[in-house]
Amino acid sequence: MTYELPALPYDYTALDPYISKQTLEFHHDKHHAAYVKKYNAAIADTEYADQPIEAVIKAVAGDASKSGIFNNAAQAWNHTFYWNSMKPNGGGQPSGDLAQKINANFGSFEQFIEAFQTAGATQFGSGWAWLVLDGTTLKVTKTLNAENPMTQGLTPLLTMDVWEHAYYLDYQNQRPAYIETFLNNLVNWDFVAQNLASA
Ligand code: FE2
Repeated sequence: MTYELPALPYDYTALDPYISKQTLEFHHDKHHAAYVKKYNAAIADTEYADQPIEAVIKAVAGDASKSGIFNNAAQAWNHTFYWNSMKPNGGGQPSGDLAQKINANFGSFEQFIEAFQTAGATQFGSGWAWLVLDGTTLKVTKTLNAENPMTQGLTPLLTMDVWEHAYYLDYQNQRPAYIETFLNNLVNWDFVAQNLASA
């Protein structure tokens, strides 16, 4: 199915000063839009043209001859998930079932933060850091380039883009500062809780 570029779930200035209007304009209107456009062109007149994007991502993962479809499909999906993983006045700590599960699976919220920071900081080159559900257990993972944990049977709950285009205009090469800001000021825990509840 044709994948439509979703509008940002907030205004372009809504994440300022943590993520600037300029970054969101380039990141959403140029990068994300290009992945969506290339994905739709790649699946036109193929067996994938009628399938939901998640099905396409899982179907072509690992098939080198279909890497063009995979990379653009996964990047289209990942970015939509990333926009929803943030909100104005985000950050802080989750509550309820999610908070309990983080404590149970990581030991404490602080240990989750440490694991997520490490995943983002140690992803060499471009990629993503994730909070996922593996069966009934929360885990932190990281993926290279466009890769998405759903291809490994994991359920994404939260993601952070660590491609340079996500932070370079605002943080230059200071990826750890972007990661700290993402966790302290931007994470949309309501979105994560919804994903956990519907998993
Ligand atoms: Fe990105």
